[in-house]
Amino acid sequence: MATEEALNYNNDDDEILRPDDLSEYLAAGTKEAHDRAENSPFAKDFLRGRIKRELFKLGTAALYHVYSALEEEIERNKEHPLFAAVYFPSELHRKEALAKDLEYLYGSDWKSQISCSAATRPYVERLHHVGQHEPDLLVAHSWTRYMGDLSGGQILKKVAQRALKLPANGDGIHFYQFEGIHNPTAFKRLYRSRMNELEVDAETKKRLLAEANLAFKFNLQVFEELQEIGNGIKEEVQDISFPAHGDLGGDISKCPYYAAKMAVSGNTTYMCQLARTLLRHTSAQVLLATWIAAITGLAAWYIM
Ligand code: HEM
Repeated sequence: MATEEALNYNNDDDEILRPDDLSEYLAAGTKEAHDRAENSPFAKDFLRGRIKRELFKLGTAALYHVYSALEEEIERNKEHPLFAAVYFPSELHRKEALAKDLEYLYGSDWKSQISCSAATRPYVERLHHVGQHEPDLLVAHSWTRYMGDLSGGQILKKVAQRALKLPANGDGIHFYQFEGIHNPTAFKRLYRSRMNELEVDAETKKRLLAEANLAFKFNLQVFEELQEIGNGIKEEVQDISFPAHGDLGGDISKCPYYAAKMAVSGNTTYMCQLARTLLRHTSAQVLLATWIAAITGLAAWYIM
């Protein structure tokens, strides 16, 4: 149902969102969980390019199990009134892309080499439970994964490609490449508007938020498991200098948001980066000049 119209989405429509829209309600209510995931040691190492190949392979295998379950349940519920409007299989579904990546990373017998890890299993079980017994909650899982993949996932793609020296043809990172989406920002907008049209009562909305937080928790547990495994793997990794910033195709270290974040965490390189970034703006230069003039004036008045 959703696919035909998806072809017509564009970037020009104004997006007017209200706090009680489902998309905003979930985004605000999972903010803390998102911060925890983003600031987990695994995510931080990944963003720095400190990712071991073996761990990347295990992470891809975990995602394969998660998306196999998610997409099986999505197919089962594609006509459900609380899901049909966000059914975008050709744009979003990741199972086939992950199978391609696993074949590249493990070889043709990849299926016999991977297994569902201890942290991935409860996530997969929950997805099947929701799909079969509480399908009105499925959109919470779909939103958590696909919208995340179209946001932060686009940063991780560039980092992984560079850190693991993956080929430019996309081998190993098909998961992050949404061939059916030419403009992720416009597509996310369409997805949000479809979500916000779902007829969700107040009680279901609360359950959806709890489910989205649970989805974040499962993802964090997979990160923690990978971090733990990584501690036992001897493999050289190198910090790389943040090569890309998502769709923007720039250098993430030049992103003021990222610099501010790192500065807050006490990283002096990023404090300098933040200062440099700010000083490139005329308004910041004027502010600094005003401050210097005021301090000089005060000093002169004091001396006199
Ligand atoms: C590696 C760490 C991560 C980074 C760097 C990251 C980064 C981002 C960024 C930059 C955004 C866009 C925020 C905006 O548009 O205002 C975003 C949104 C989002 N992320 Fe993450 N993220 C990370 C981890 C995760 C994880 C583990 C999940 C869940 C599986 C997730 C799910 C989401 C969701 C659901 C959104 C909201 C999308 C929307 O409504 O537009 N993120 N993330």
